[in-house]
Amino acid sequence: MELNIIVNKKAYTFEVEPSDSLLDILREKLNLTGTKNGCKQGHCGACTVVVNGKAVKSCITKARKLENANIVTIEGISSDFSLHAIQEAFIEATGVQCGFCTPGYIMELYALFNANPEVGKEDINKALEKHLCRCTGYKPIVQSAMLAQQKIRKE
Ligand code: FES
Ligand code: FES
Repeated sequence: MELNIIVNKKAYTFEVEPSDSLLDILREKLNLTGTKNGCKQGHCGACTVVVNGKAVKSCITKARKLENANIVTIEGISSDFSLHAIQEAFIEATGVQCGFCTPGYIMELYALFNANPEVGKEDINKALEKHLCRCTGYKPIVQSAMLAQQKIRKE
């Protein structure tokens, strides 16, 4: 079937198979490899992108259900060669080690803070709990999220 979608503000039309996931489309058709394939089963959160304003796990999201959807990936959040505040915060608060899980965390927080920059700590923790990281021990990721919120509030 034919699918029309918008990814990072650009419109695309392509043929998709019923079994194609959004992750397949992003990585294989659009070469947006910042979105990672960690488990392909909805467990790790590495594949998280934002669809119509909500953070979703792209590996378990069927492409065929996304007609006219507006999608943002990690490649779409920085502008004019400057990093997004959440990306800066992950660097400054050492929330990144190998970096494999990082785009998923960042897109989760991007959706969360866009919906409500004043969201409370409990909701931030709840959002972070949807993700797995094998490197950081999580504390720097929580600190990165809090720093990101401070930066966004100041913007
Ligand atoms: S790759 Fe999608 S949740 Fe792990
Ligand atoms: S930084 Fe390596 S998996 Fe999270």
